[in-house]
Amino acid sequence: MATRLRFLHVAGAAALLTACAPGLAVPADADVTRGRPAHPDLTLDELNQGRSKYVAKCAGCHHLYSPAALEPESWRGMVAEMRDRSNLTDAEEQAILTYLTVMSTRPQG
Ligand code: HEC
Repeated sequence: MATRLRFLHVAGAAALLTACAPGLAVPADADVTRGRPAHPDLTLDELNQGRSKYVAKCAGCHHLYSPAALEPESWRGMVAEMRDRSNLTDAEEQAILTYLTVMSTRPQG
């Protein structure tokens, strides 16, 4: 019984973590297809990693802006500007930028 309770506790914590950024666009296959011309090797996994990095690195000082809030060109400038504030590595900057620019061109329904 104790083991089962502990398992439930851990599962609950994981659910809370993923719910951390409610409403933030979650990548789907259509986003990969739309992003491919600009990023030929793009994968769904890569977009999801970019989303995770964005949540982890960019939410410390202000709310997370929706990718749709800015045009891809503006995101390029903005991420470059925020890079030092977030202590991003090159790989993290690239992952976040890919997520934001690809998702910013998602058709709004
Ligand atoms: C250390 C604090 C800090 C972190 C971390 C941070 N920001 Fe910011 N951000 C700010 C502040 C302060 C502003 C207010 C405008 C300014 O000073 O440029 C801002 C403004 C913004 C804006 C709005 C600009 C506008 O025109 O209204 C966007 C978009 C943004 N940040 C994106 C990001 C992204 C993407 C990341 C992660 C790579 C990030 N921020 C990480 C402090 C931070």
